[in-house]
Amino acid sequence: MRIGWLTDIHLNFLSPENRAVFYQRIRGQNLDALLIGGDIAEAHTVAGILAELDLALGIPIYFVLGNHDFYHGSIAAVRHTVRQSCAASGRLRWLPDAGVIPLAGETALIGHDSWADGRIGDFFGSDVMMNDYVLIEDLRFLAKPRLLARLSALGDEAARFLEDHARQALARWRNLLVLTHVPPFREACWHEGRISAEDFLPHFACQAVGERLAAVMREHPQNTMTVLCGHTHSSGEARILDNLSVMTGAAEYGRPELQRIFELP
Ligand SMILES: [Fe+2]
Ligand SMILES: [Fe+2]
Repeated sequence: MRIGWLTDIHLNFLSPENRAVFYQRIRGQNLDALLIGGDIAEAHTVAGILAELDLALGIPIYFVLGNHDFYHGSIAAVRHTVRQSCAASGRLRWLPDAGVIPLAGETALIGHDSWADGRIGDFFGSDVMMNDYVLIEDLRFLAKPRLLARLSALGDEAARFLEDHARQALARWRNLLVLTHVPPFREACWHEGRISAEDFLPHFACQAVGERLAAVMREHPQNTMTVLCGHTHSSGEARILDNLSVMTGAAEYGRPELQRIFELP
């Protein structure tokens, strides 16, 4: 089974012609399934782009959403739209609604959008102003304590989901792929070959997810987990435990690239 992994493709920045060229390149890889780790487009374009991907590729697409997918919209409205997209297609699956997906052999897949939860690095000392805090209705113009509470709640939601579903999956499958948007560990928060600075980390990493995934994997020494994430647009790999590693994908606006192909027996 050949599975491709994309992240941070931001297809709203490409013309329809350039998107068609990109889809043709993906088709040329003869994939059996595709993983997309979020930042697909923006609130008003994500459903149309998902439908386009589905039609152009004709293979199962397992995806999560990234912060950009909510720009100029609200979290609830985008989730509703994406659920409608999945209901209209037999091949599109938003992983927070899909549970545990058996892939091949001893490998299964779970995933959740996740969110930078403000808990790693120096949130209150950070002057970084993410577009998220202006362009997403739920986060717009909040004072820092309220913003941190919202971000933490979003991180906790992802952490609960991933912990529960990782436990379910590991009871049956030896290897688990976890698809998410935000790096769940400081060590996976790459920026141009180094770890992101203290003022960016609160906006780039999700501590809640990392803590829960590491706890689960300490209880399952015979299993392996590989986390696939993005969001920082800089690639790197981190080994968190002997059985837990994280790949962070690279990205450049306007130049979507396949990160990697996994060949599963
Ligand atoms: Fe991105
Ligand atoms: Fe992002």
